[in-house]
Amino acid sequence: MRIGVLTGGGDCPGLNAVIRAVARRAWSNGHEVIGVREGWRGMVERLFEPLGPQQISGILPRGGTIIGTSRTNPYKVEGGVDKVRAAFEHLDALVAIGGEDTLGVASKLHSEFQLPVVGVPKTIDNDLSGTDYTFGFDTAVSICTEAIDRLHTTAEAHNRVMVVEVMGRHAGWIAVHSGIAGGADVILIPERPVVFEDVCEEIRRRHARGKNFSIVVISEGCELPGADDKGEVDQFGHKLLAKRGVGERLGDEIEERTGFETRVTVLGHIQRGGSPTPRDRILATRFGLKAADLVEAGEFGQMAALRGDDVIACSLEEATAELKSVTPEWYDVAKAFFG
Ligand code: F6P
Repeated sequence: MRIGVLTGGGDCPGLNAVIRAVARRAWSNGHEVIGVREGWRGMVERLFEPLGPQQISGILPRGGTIIGTSRTNPYKVEGGVDKVRAAFEHLDALVAIGGEDTLGVASKLHSEFQLPVVGVPKTIDNDLSGTDYTFGFDTAVSICTEAIDRLHTTAEAHNRVMVVEVMGRHAGWIAVHSGIAGGADVILIPERPVVFEDVCEEIRRRHARGKNFSIVVISEGCELPGADDKGEVDQFGHKLLAKRGVGERLGDEIEERTGFETRVTVLGHIQRGGSPTPRDRILATRFGLKAADLVEAGEFGQMAALRGDDVIACSLEEATAELKSVTPEWYDVAKAFFG
């Protein structure tokens, strides 16, 4: 068989570990592996390259993706779907590694045209349904937690409020996990409305009990009261986030309302760069092996998923039907340490 592999959407630590695992298992089953460059664009434009032992060598700890990525949506490109279907004449199966958008396309291509596609869930946001965790999330949380630890010491030295903006366009998993791990005093996520006075009240309460610094973690996808929404969207219909993000605007409000000196740190793409944690390397490796096994068994339209400690198969349709939001139970853990 000729098995294609593509990585789509935002990059994520662990992508190379998946590619390596798919390739190693596919080769041991006697198959050929083809790298499809830059996500779905590579299927539309036939950007194929052979992946052999030389290309795979040494990539396990490397961030990014050796085959590139893009946010191309073939359903939004003129003739895109037909071109993707034609590209399958050169592939017997495709492993699509991506988040809700990339896998949403994979799911549609499988249900509409029965194309031989298998999915692997990737996103630092951890907001994909059907799997307990996605790889990349643990690395992002580790980076954010380290940043919060560092901000703690400088916040304390200067009696400041520190606002930390983390990624999470639709779901606040990174904010909740890194906020809990880093001991944040307030955590704001897209799933919950932001009320400026409530945030300020938590900070005042904390200062009233003798603390003179605070850490506030906010997800980039939070909607703030009075926000000016320009309504611009990308190829997958996601709202483009404002250049001056929510962290900056929240910082202004806090300083103005409480009088406490406030500084803002936007962690941005640092959260996605660099080497994956051991946990992410292991999860990515297990997902890659599972994906290759699903191809071998001809179980298309499925995705590798983590449930408890087991890697299982879950339908792409189920995985992409809706996003996985932060549950009230998780938010309660965070809230127990507010103020
Ligand atoms: O989807 C993962 C993610 O990292 C989001 O958290 C973030 O909003 C988005 O990608 C950033 O995308 P880009 O790299 O295209 O700016």
